[in-house]
Amino acid sequence: ANLKMEEIVSLCKRRGIIFPSSEIYNGFAGFFDYGPLGAELKRNVKDAFWKNFVHNREDVVGIDSSIIHNPITWQSSGHLDGFSDPMVDCRETKLRYRADQLFCSPVVLEECGSTVGFVCVLEANDEDMVKEATSQAKKLLKEKEMKGSAIKAFQFRDLTQVTEEEMAQIPSPGSNKPTLTMPRDFNLMFQTNVGAMQDASSVAYLRPETAQGIFINYKNVVGSSRVKIPFGIAQIGKAFRNEITPRNFIFRSREFEQMEIEYFIPPGDEEWKPYHEKWIADSRAFLEQVGLKDELMGYDVHEGDGLAHYARACTDITFKFPFGVQELMGIAARGDFDLKSHSEGSGKVLDYFDEETKEKFIPHVIEPSLGVDRLILALICSAYAEDEINGEKRSYLSFHPSIAPVKVAVLPLVKNKEPLVEAARDLFDKLSKRWNVQWDQTGAIGRRYRRADEVGVPFCVTVDFETIEDNAGVTIRDRDSTDQVRIPIDEVIPYLSKMIDG
Ligand code: GAP
Repeated sequence: ANLKMEEIVSLCKRRGIIFPSSEIYNGFAGFFDYGPLGAELKRNVKDAFWKNFVHNREDVVGIDSSIIHNPITWQSSGHLDGFSDPMVDCRETKLRYRADQLFCSPVVLEECGSTVGFVCVLEANDEDMVKEATSQAKKLLKEKEMKGSAIKAFQFRDLTQVTEEEMAQIPSPGSNKPTLTMPRDFNLMFQTNVGAMQDASSVAYLRPETAQGIFINYKNVVGSSRVKIPFGIAQIGKAFRNEITPRNFIFRSREFEQMEIEYFIPPGDEEWKPYHEKWIADSRAFLEQVGLKDELMGYDVHEGDGLAHYARACTDITFKFPFGVQELMGIAARGDFDLKSHSEGSGKVLDYFDEETKEKFIPHVIEPSLGVDRLILALICSAYAEDEINGEKRSYLSFHPSIAPVKVAVLPLVKNKEPLVEAARDLFDKLSKRWNVQWDQTGAIGRRYRRADEVGVPFCVTVDFETIEDNAGVTIRDRDSTDQVRIPIDEVIPYLSKMIDG
């Protein structure tokens, strides 16, 4: 219940799931690398999405577009003008903060009344952060031996609402100059130059979402496949955002992956509603199917000001992360905003001809959008469990077998009895033709079970003396219950397929 992020981060590093990027060079904020187990987990998550929403459905096809588009794309989509966060800089520390989040600022005063203290700005969304800021302020007072000083005020404000006069009240350490710049817009797209020229004409952008690659291919897909409205186009791939404050591990990073679908539907003021409802339900069902605990999920319905300019409605599916309830996935009703904008921007009409009604129209769209990395974090948090086995504490990841990085561990009970090891090897070879299987012959069997549990291997198959001496089959141990069943070797594959592939 009191799962801490540090535990998750440390487990991920220790077991080769996720590493900080470029760690030998002290890392690189907002970037992460997936290790051997993380890479498997990621593939499984993407495969599950693709299988569920593309292969298992007749009405959705997939594409894989380039990451860098013609930069006019971002003009039309509105990203060049509008894809920004309000931000303030601290003149003293040069640190940059998102201005649309609550902050608190303990202003420290000397007894004489001149402001010499410091200003601490935090994204103070919760009580704990405020408490933390208070204690930091007190600590600093002590360190600087500013006896008699006082914490003047805590302000809880959204900096985008702060006036210039108010901003000027927030003093700098050692001076009366304001510490923070006024909020200004900061575009989140990463720029690059395409070709040898490094001037304005060669500027291009790394995509901040996979969605636009779908819209600009709308005509190609309609013209080349037999899709009929309503239909969807799915894409999974990297997206890049120069986030001002990347944080909470892989929750908000600067390079991440998205799984998005644009589902094209007939136009109309009301027509989108049942489609939107259905996509919310289907998305939620998918998240449950890959193993997210139902009680950790919720909904956040955006209305009015909370809606992006293009959206008619947006419902987020939230997840209770260790750092709070946050957006995991968004399901937006975007009207015809995107296809219309690209029609205007490109001069090509991105419409649809309905064979039956002989009508031409620009379709509306429902957009389910889910971050791969954010889902992975949710899956790890959801799966993390602790219990006690014969008086010994154990921590394990109760991953659903379909997404578990390693499906089966094959364990020869001893490593110095040749026929036993051979039988285990033979089984390992057979199983690894189908799944990612782990071989482990080192250490006591109990320790090997724990090792497998910690990375969420759902099944351990143990080859023991009875296997070879009495032809008594093997034991298969279930990670969560730790129960074991003994079954004939020939039945191992059918048994596991049922458990893993459903
Ligand atoms: N095409 C719509 C779109 O991109 P979004 O809410 O900006 O909407 C969709 O992003 C999803 O992508 C989010 O719900 C989240 O899962 C993921 N996501 C967005 N920014 C992210 C970041 N900086 N790091 C990790 N995941 C992110």
